[in-house]
Amino acid sequence: MHGELRVSELQPGEARCPGISVEDLLDKDSRPVPEYLRAQAYEFLGDADIPYQRYTSREVHDEEVAHMWWRTWQWACREEHIPEPGDYYVYDVGPYSALVVRTPEGEIKAFRNVCLHRGTKLKPANSSGWAESIRCPYHGWNWRLNGELESFPCEWDFPHVQPRDVALQPIHADIWGGFVFVNFDSDAVPLLEYLHPLPEHIPSEVFEQRYVAMHVQKELNCNWKIASEAFLEAYHVMETHPQLMRANGDANTQYDFYGDHVSRLVNVAGTPSAMLKEPMTEQEILDVFLVGDRDDVAERLVVPEGGTARAVMAQHFRDTVVASGGADLSQVCDSEIVDSIAYFVFPNQQFFSGVSFPIVYRFRPLGQQHDRALFDLIIMKQRPTDGSPVTTAQPVPLKVEESYTTVPGMDPYVGHVFDQDTGNMQAAHEGALAAAPGDGATLGNYQEIRIRHMHKTLDKYLSAHDTHNNKE
Ligand code: FES
Ligand SMILES: [Fe+2]
Repeated sequence: MHGELRVSELQPGEARCPGISVEDLLDKDSRPVPEYLRAQAYEFLGDADIPYQRYTSREVHDEEVAHMWWRTWQWACREEHIPEPGDYYVYDVGPYSALVVRTPEGEIKAFRNVCLHRGTKLKPANSSGWAESIRCPYHGWNWRLNGELESFPCEWDFPHVQPRDVALQPIHADIWGGFVFVNFDSDAVPLLEYLHPLPEHIPSEVFEQRYVAMHVQKELNCNWKIASEAFLEAYHVMETHPQLMRANGDANTQYDFYGDHVSRLVNVAGTPSAMLKEPMTEQEILDVFLVGDRDDVAERLVVPEGGTARAVMAQHFRDTVVASGGADLSQVCDSEIVDSIAYFVFPNQQFFSGVSFPIVYRFRPLGQQHDRALFDLIIMKQRPTDGSPVTTAQPVPLKVEESYTTVPGMDPYVGHVFDQDTGNMQAAHEGALAAAPGDGATLGNYQEIRIRHMHKTLDKYLSAHDTHNNKE
């Protein structure tokens, strides 16, 4: 309806792209649509520029380290990364390092990855493996997997050391959806409270039933927020991924945000961009939806009279999954199968709940650098319903200049899309550096609301007085 109104009659943030909305498409779904998908949660948050200095300045990076990274919940690894007692996984962000360990009792605990003797990092940054105990490589102080000090050489020289005072320092670790989240703040709010309303929208089991089928860690020449923000809107699809426009409702994506920490987008597939001038039939949409610009898919499906490409695609997916021994998706609506339903959790992670393309993102500064980033892309798969074992993929490192299409097992069509996304990032960072003093990014009121929302939350953390070493 909004498309029929003149923009001038609307309050800021009320305008929407003309054309079919997510709501309209949900009305046509072949299944009942769950309420959480329909509920919209947008509000205008102002239209001031976002200063480029937030991306380019070392001082802002230092403030994020002092006030934000240690106080926020971030997923460190998956449960399946550490299945056996003694398995460990290290998650580093800025100077902070979490050592996540599976104890002999099968519990998951996290500690500061720091020796209590003279501070040496116990396990290397971003490493993983198995250990009988946690032993410092410098002088050999040795801890049990539950964090208790087991032994240290030359005890006679340390009469002042009580083992209980030098246990490994625990940090918060909690699990949702099979992800192990950590938080370095001893006063952290509980994880489920922080994630609200994600756990109410998407049951934990949805992500528990998936496993890491591919993991790509790409280095980027940009601030971590520039990288993250490239995935918070679909406004870029028409220019960056023009090949997707014929089967992607880019400018009609729905954007919602909730509280401080969570936002989402519902980016509809199987409907053309409203920016396309030429009308398309449902059959044409289905053809391009199914094969994109590939020529390696022989199968052709037909849209029945009065049917939609979305419904045919969703049913095809349900049938394929059942035929391969997978879960029964007969009650799952078309949208939850074919669309990108992406939940962002502040500060740096996104979880895609849709069934056909279950992916997860995480962004961080690369080491201590404010102008370089590390982008974890996880492509998940559904665990077999018969419980047969799966292999958790190891991370594949990619340098800035290396293409996603070189990753073993990567669908070249998907790899090309990620190359397009990451291909913009260095230019975005360099442009932010080249801009006139005081300039900033201009955001669309609706399509880029999640970026503004993220910065509002970041502001709240940066203006807080808690610092890591000196809590006021
Ligand atoms: S610094 Fe770790 S044992 Fe000495
Ligand atoms: Fe993109």
